[in-house]
Amino acid sequence: MKVLVTGGLGFIGSHTVVELQQKGFEVVIIDDLSNSSIEVLGGIASITGKTPLFEQFDLRDKQKVETFFETHNDIVGVIHFAASKAVGESVEKPLLYYENNLNTLIYMLKSVVQLEASFIFSSSCTVYGQADQMPITENAPTKPAESPYGNTKQIGEEIIKDTCKVHSKLNAISLRYFNPIGAHPTAKIGELPIGVPQNLVPFITQTAAGLRKELSVFGNDYPTPDGTCIRDYIHVVDLAKAHVIALERLINGKNQYNYETFNVGTGKGSSVLEVIKSFEKVSGKELPYKFAPKREGDVIQAYADTAKANNDLGWKAESTLDDAMDSAWKWEQHIRNI
Ligand code: UD1
Repeated sequence: MKVLVTGGLGFIGSHTVVELQQKGFEVVIIDDLSNSSIEVLGGIASITGKTPLFEQFDLRDKQKVETFFETHNDIVGVIHFAASKAVGESVEKPLLYYENNLNTLIYMLKSVVQLEASFIFSSSCTVYGQADQMPITENAPTKPAESPYGNTKQIGEEIIKDTCKVHSKLNAISLRYFNPIGAHPTAKIGELPIGVPQNLVPFITQTAAGLRKELSVFGNDYPTPDGTCIRDYIHVVDLAKAHVIALERLINGKNQYNYETFNVGTGKGSSVLEVIKSFEKVSGKELPYKFAPKREGDVIQAYADTAKANNDLGWKAESTLDDAMDSAWKWEQHIRNI
């Protein structure tokens, strides 16, 4: 069965392609390489023994999208990762974010409706903002988005929901990711941040590799046990598997509604200091860090209630924080030749 993975050379996309191929799906990737590298294709091939089909183009080109689907009219499912994801940049360039993340979603959906294919959307726990209750269930109200990036995830979900209402043969799932980290255990694919990493884990591994002097821990007087923010860090391979299970749910008609949302997290919150400790434990290295002012827009804590994903989707995170940190460090060592 042929599946399209947009953004399939990116961090989560590439890990999902591996899991799909290992389950016997035929994968076609569309990626414009704006935030990824063609070498990832080789990494995928060396893990799975198979090079996925690959087309390089920008999904904002509506004509190319239409032509692509005319050629590949046997696609049964689309997993749509391709999007811009830097929160700070989205504040500076809102129109770029709305165009990249929403126009492309609309073009995808138009074709998916025609093909009656299944659709999986990359959403984010960012739609909840600072939730009033922990752990966060899928029924928690969405809060006004803190950034154009966050807004594209909220609007994206609305677009899919509205489309599903009128197209009963369209089956879609939005997966709301918590904080994806780590790399493939083979260290053949992983995260490749461009420039200075904004996210915690790549900043930690780059600091340990000597690329950065020290980590700034943003805030130490939050109302949490150790004063630092709490997040639900999920191993990217577990997250990738959730996509395959979600897709199979739709293909096999096991979904309860034609539009569903699931939290994808571990259900366990970890503070920034706990993440540092985990890194130090698995790497045997002491991490230089200092406390710095809070980062604007950071929520105090966010971790998932995973009951719906566990019970309805039949998916559960298997890896621990230590596993994820270990794989992230192995990947950093691999790309830096340490
Ligand atoms: C961020 C985005 C979120 C997006 C996600 C994608 C913000 C405010 N949120 O989530 O919308 O969906 O990335 O991956 O940008 N931290 C430090 N020092 C650092 C970096 C991070 O202390 O150098 C802390 C942060 O304050 C936070 C935690 O580490 O408490 C995790 O940060 P990060 O990895 O950036 O993820 P989020 O902010 O949760």
